Amino acid sequence: MAVGHVVALLIPHGWSEAAGITEHTYRVTAVALGTVAGVCTLGGLAVLVCRRRTVGPVFSATTHNDKLMYVMLTLALVLGLTATADANIAGAGYDYRTTVSPWFRSIFSFRPDPALMSGLPLLSQLHVLSAPALFAVWPFTRLAHLLTAPLGYLTRPYIVYRSRDAQLGARPPRRGWERVR
Ligand code: HEM
Repeated sequence: MAVGHVVALLIPHGWSEAAGITEHTYRVTAVALGTVAGVCTLGGLAVLVCRRRTVGPVFSATTHNDKLMYVMLTLALVLGLTATADANIAGAGYDYRTTVSPWFRSIFSFRPDPALMSGLPLLSQLHVLSAPALFAVWPFTRLAHLLTAPLGYLTRPYIVYRSRDAQLGARPPRRGWERVR
């Protein structure tokens, strides 16, 4: 799905036509692959949320921000899927590569052109709005793990864990092996 969005948003319309991919082929492929990927993501999310709610220690480690993030992630996914179904499966479709994509690129050239988005179906507008809302909470939730790799683990020193119990097991500690506090 992420790859699909990168291709749809960043690769200009003319490039795929120059490569011989017609608008119809592009749209059918994008809708089919995007819908399958979106439904799979939603299924994976449901499994993870279920585990987070039912496994005690995992639930205890879940913050309010995490819960908000799950709602926003679900919203972005559901709005994306319903916008696609509404516009491209139930409706005649609109070309997001001449509206959403140039608008998205216009943000990065510091000349945002909101007029490009004004004719979009409401569900699509809501989907596009749901994304920056999700991005805003992203770094303050568990989703931050998507942007970090624990490379330091490879070089950090071992962590020595010591029990707080005065005595481990029934046998008193041998001389020279007294506990350090
Ligand atoms: C700036 C960010 C984003 C933009 C501009 C964007 C734009 C779009 C567009 C134009 C569509 C086609 C549906 C339609 O006709 O409206 C779509 C579909 C979809 N989006 Fe996004 N989206 C963004 C971020 C996200 C995020 C963060 C998620 C999920 C976490 C997401 C999930 C989906 C899903 C599941 C679909 C339906 C399947 C598909 O067509 O790929 N999108 N998005």
